[in-house]
Amino acid sequence: MSNKDVANALKAVLADTFVLYFKTHSFHWNVTGPHFKSLHELFEEQYNEIWAATDEIAERIRTLGEFAPNNYDEMAKIATLTPSGQTPDEQSMVQILADDNRAIVKTLYNALKTAENDNDEATVDLMVERISTHEKAAWMLESSRAK
Ligand SMILES: [Fe+2]
Repeated sequence: MSNKDVANALKAVLADTFVLYFKTHSFHWNVTGPHFKSLHELFEEQYNEIWAATDEIAERIRTLGEFAPNNYDEMAKIATLTPSGQTPDEQSMVQILADDNRAIVKTLYNALKTAENDNDEATVDLMVERISTHEKAAWMLESSRAK
């Protein structure tokens, strides 16, 4: 394991974080239905938090001596989350974002393990913070679903 391995794992984290950022922001724009206001605001809180995280992740990649991706295509190739190609109903939006917040945790754990093997505690710390934030986001979304 080396800085380069950790940086590559972080690039996968950045790619998934970007997909989830854009999906959450687009659902903020496009949500319709009886829970419009609360979901519009919940999605806004979440996309703002995710956007701030992209900067932390990319700057960690730079700190490790690697360059961050320069274009969206480069990130789309390594992302495991899929962009939204549609405008689902409000309950589907909540379910999709809940599922994505659970799924991104897998990518984060991969980077966490890589960083642990490299004794890179700063990256471990960032990954732990991201895991707890996405798990909390998933809980909030799951709690917003209609019964
Ligand atoms: Fe807005």
